[in-house]
Amino acid sequence: MLHKTLKPFPDYFLWGASTSAYQVEGAALEDGKGPSCQDVKDIPEGTADLSVSVDHYHRYKEDIALMAEMGFKSYRFSISWTRILPEGTGEVNPKGIAFYNDLIDECLKYGIEPIVTMFHFDMPAALDKRGSWSVRESIDWFAEFAAVLFKHFGDRVKYWLTINEQNMLTLVGPVIGTMYIPQETDNLTKEIYQQNHHQLVAQAKAMQICHEMLPEAKIGPAPNISLVYAASSKPEDVLASQNYNAIRNWLYLDAAVYGIYNNLVWAYLEELDAVPEISQEDWDIMRAAKPDFIGFNYYNTATVAASDGTESLDPAADQQTSRGESGFYRGTDNPHLPKTEFGWEIDPIGFRATMRELYSRYRLPLLVTENGLGAYDSLEEDGKIHDQYRIHYLQDHIAQIQEAITDGVEMLGYNPWSAIDLISTHEGIKKRYGFIYVDRSDDELKTLKRYRKDSFFWYKKVIAANGADLTD
Ligand code: BG6
Repeated sequence: MLHKTLKPFPDYFLWGASTSAYQVEGAALEDGKGPSCQDVKDIPEGTADLSVSVDHYHRYKEDIALMAEMGFKSYRFSISWTRILPEGTGEVNPKGIAFYNDLIDECLKYGIEPIVTMFHFDMPAALDKRGSWSVRESIDWFAEFAAVLFKHFGDRVKYWLTINEQNMLTLVGPVIGTMYIPQETDNLTKEIYQQNHHQLVAQAKAMQICHEMLPEAKIGPAPNISLVYAASSKPEDVLASQNYNAIRNWLYLDAAVYGIYNNLVWAYLEELDAVPEISQEDWDIMRAAKPDFIGFNYYNTATVAASDGTESLDPAADQQTSRGESGFYRGTDNPHLPKTEFGWEIDPIGFRATMRELYSRYRLPLLVTENGLGAYDSLEEDGKIHDQYRIHYLQDHIAQIQEAITDGVEMLGYNPWSAIDLISTHEGIKKRYGFIYVDRSDDELKTLKRYRKDSFFWYKKVIAANGADLTD
């Protein structure tokens, strides 16, 4: 559809950006924080460890002042479970509560709406020792944590996100350093989908508790959604794209919104003898919960062809690189799309297609919780960072949000990745996403000084014009 006139961004549109606790905070074991799976995992060679990250824990005031200078209306950050509950359950750490109280108050001081992710890839190490998401008790652990968050921060936080990228935890958990693998299992797929099921129920419970404790608050999931294209108009390729769309995307949102398992996913799990154990109580909890909006992360689309029966899951595939599964789909490159320096395809029009599809399937407002370009940036001698490539990426994607709004999609806000440079999930700080540059490398902490990138000044202008001027 070619629109003659584009609708403007709504006045309430939440322009901001995102981070996650373990990727920015540092202070990994400070002020009573317990270790999370991120603090005990093996660090991929050549990437930064997470003990200091970019020191947001000590520099959040300076960082939020810079976000305010850009005109942010929102800041999406996650709360570290083990800063609040060092053992995952039980005793609350008052210093952890104090830190997030201060962070929230600092945002509100500048009129920045805090958008809080409750869980972003950082399972408490103590709970991994107790079986992690494999065991049913994990549902209660998460519910306990959720209630603590709502009690302490619910007077000021209106937007909550449950689990960041549950679909990536399930599909590529080992690559992003989050997967708990029990020592004995003869069917890893079943084990993984049992963990996934417990997360679905835990999320539903958290949504229910939120609505009971905080009737004014809004809560939603935050999966990584990429529309999956068929590699050609061959009918078999179209079926494969439906398979992978269901496995990658719709499983998570059909469960969150309607409390059901997607039928194609169910058939897939039956084929693999991997249907999880589901109690009647689980169904009741899932059906009773309903999100108020859909938060989603978008980096690019995926493209698949029919399986030729030879595919196996590529153990190195990450969130956005192609994969295949014998009998279901075969990941391919999309010849129409360029790639980033880190091999992720770039597809702004696919962003619009994804928003259209999401809205027509679920009819809930959409909040973009991540989107962005990971690149090698360089700090010039004059203290400048000329990240034109990032400006272009963001321009093209924001333009597609306006197209989607004109298509009739209800959009709440745009919070790209990332507010400030941080440590990538598995590629270190050399892969930068921020509007704010941090002076450190993977092996050296350097000064940790903050610098405004060219994209900083550009985004400030975009926000001031409420998206009406995207030019650089
Ligand atoms: C998302 C995650 O998968 O993408 C973030 O929610 C992550 O935690 C971001 O950092 C970018 O991915 P990566 O692998 O480049 O860090």
